[in-house]
Amino acid sequence: MTQPTANSESSNTTFNHTTSSLNAFAPRLLDWFAENGRHDLPWQQHQTDTPNPYIVWLSEVMLQQTQVTTVLPYFARFMETFPTVQDLAAADWDVVAEHWAGLGYYARARNLHKGAKQLVAVIEETGEFPQTLAGWEAISGVGPSTAGAIMAMGLHRYGVICDGNVKRVLTRWAAIDGDITKSATNKDLWALAERLTPTENSGLFAQAMMDMGATLCTRSKPACLLCPLQEDCLAHAEGRETDYPVKAKKQPKPSKFSDALLIENIDGEILWLQRPDNGIWGGLWSLPLQFVEKVDGKTNSNATVKKTLASDDKSSNVASGVRSNEKVYETEFTTAEQIVHEWLITNELVTESVSKSLLDDAPIKHSLTHFHWYLTPRKLTVDTAKMLELNEKLAAAEIDFKWLTEQTAQDNLGLPRAMEKVIER
Ligand code: ADE
Ligand code: SF4
Repeated sequence: MTQPTANSESSNTTFNHTTSSLNAFAPRLLDWFAENGRHDLPWQQHQTDTPNPYIVWLSEVMLQQTQVTTVLPYFARFMETFPTVQDLAAADWDVVAEHWAGLGYYARARNLHKGAKQLVAVIEETGEFPQTLAGWEAISGVGPSTAGAIMAMGLHRYGVICDGNVKRVLTRWAAIDGDITKSATNKDLWALAERLTPTENSGLFAQAMMDMGATLCTRSKPACLLCPLQEDCLAHAEGRETDYPVKAKKQPKPSKFSDALLIENIDGEILWLQRPDNGIWGGLWSLPLQFVEKVDGKTNSNATVKKTLASDDKSSNVASGVRSNEKVYETEFTTAEQIVHEWLITNELVTESVSKSLLDDAPIKHSLTHFHWYLTPRKLTVDTAKMLELNEKLAAAEIDFKWLTEQTAQDNLGLPRAMEKVIER
């Protein structure tokens, strides 16, 4: 991204508005914000002379894909346990994961932890937080808009934001009809955001834009009658507010089907596996999942294991039921799940449905960024000999695993929301 030159006397031929409209944008927005904006969000630093960049960085990462109301309690818990970036950097990953569990998009939590360590290194070297846009963009999980937000709101320097909310407001206000998933459109949007951001008070402006996008210029029902930009909003003039932003139609999400195994020992403890760092729920704890392949509307266990064992169809014990005809997702197992699967097959172990009635038999549906995941809880109780056999195999492969009751796991491990749903079934 190029360093913006705010309010340069650019000719407005590149923009869809006159110079006077462009110049009126910030004052109108800031007047509205002073009267009607939110001024009590716990991470806001616009009313203090000594802004805390840690607070702004932490909250912005949390708010990247999550709404304010959801973030509030998580933010409070993070600040309580990790009041400084040094506390966060020094924390065990499991503690961070446990604090994040339920917020989703777990790559953000891993980046946050990594970013904290990077920030501490910068502070140890320079004595302060990064002071430039490039310095912030070098931190894991911080993109151009988050870096702009931190510059503006966390340091009271000049910074420009152009996140999803801002893009929605700007595409409407300027009737920008390019596909916002295309880089050419994004270039135009950044140029406009930079042109509109005042040199003084860019932090206040950033906060005001976020509030506008979140409370007035909402996705499906913009409150144009209350909007300070109404009089020269081009989408509003056309009555076409919700035609913007233009976004290429997404492919429908594929569906993936898995059995979530509750493998219980004679003490009533259940097997938990730590997911590999890369991939879905990286670093979090999960029940062993067993991929279920759908064949002509029926489900069947994954073929890979069958092939390697050259066995017959014993493995179909793991799966059961008939599910609707949807696109089949690619086969996948973590190493640990592969071990569990082979152990199930060689011991001819059969899992049982845990649902109490036919009505409960529907799998738990969990939607992620790239697919819907249908998880069917299935239970199995094993004797100590079989448990020890499995432990040995997992330990030999250097898998992190624990046997814990559902309650203990819920209280002490970072569980993805989907696992909580399975436990609470
Ligand atoms: N979304 C992203 N950043 C935000 C902030 N600082 N306040 C409210 N909503 C936001
Ligand atoms: Fe959004 Fe309506 Fe305001 Fe235009 S007038 S910026 S569409 S709320």
